[in-house]
Amino acid sequence: METNNENQLAYAMPRIGEAAPEFKAVTTQGDINFPSDYKGSWVILFSHPADFTPVCTSEFMTFASMEDQFAEANTKLVGLSVDGLYSHIAWLRTIKEKIEYRGMKNVEVKFPLIEDITMEVAKKYGMMMPGESNTKAVRAVFIIDPKGTIRTIIYYPLSLGRNFDELYRAVVALQAADAFGVATPADWRPGDDVIISPAGSCGTAQDRMEGKEEGLECKDWFFCTKKISKEEVLKKVLKK
Ligand code: BEZ
Repeated sequence: METNNENQLAYAMPRIGEAAPEFKAVTTQGDINFPSDYKGSWVILFSHPADFTPVCTSEFMTFASMEDQFAEANTKLVGLSVDGLYSHIAWLRTIKEKIEYRGMKNVEVKFPLIEDITMEVAKKYGMMMPGESNTKAVRAVFIIDPKGTIRTIIYYPLSLGRNFDELYRAVVALQAADAFGVATPADWRPGDDVIISPAGSCGTAQDRMEGKEEGLECKDWFFCTKKISKEEVLKKVLKK
């Protein structure tokens, strides 16, 4: 029986701003060394509860259909469940050969799907949540930057399929925030105004309020926005 301390270690959770925990794994696309094989790319590491389940199937079809879109944003996808490699291969083949869903068919999942029967990786990344399930990973999403730092973590329970437009929006918003040194407000999309944080890195709050900082529009000392056109974002982030 595990002690409390061992239990805590067994269910460790990495945090935003920390280095992505390292692991080696067998996947449907061969062996990987994570995150070093992904250096220089953004990567979404995500878990799903089980192969041959309907919500997961709808998610994989959606994610696979968006793989080129994510690639344009220099973002690679890596899936994981606590199933074995042959189950993964059989499930992905069935999806391609038999499943038609919301206009998607013959969907080939080309990104790697990790086998994690031992739950080693799932436990390292806090994907096992015993309150939800002892035997299945929850729907965890880790967005990791090109230096291997965890930038966003999102968790969904077993019954709730993810919104993949939101994951794409989050990747582009993180990249835009890095590229322009800004923050992005609620529901931001390329072309919307961005937020300039109040930390006095460029000028004083007084300067801002008096309109002395070019391009800023301030509603109060703590709420200043700036325009960055959709074209600028697409050029810098998506190299379009
Ligand atoms: C599903 O993907 O459909 C699913 C998986 C585990 C529990 C409930 C639903």
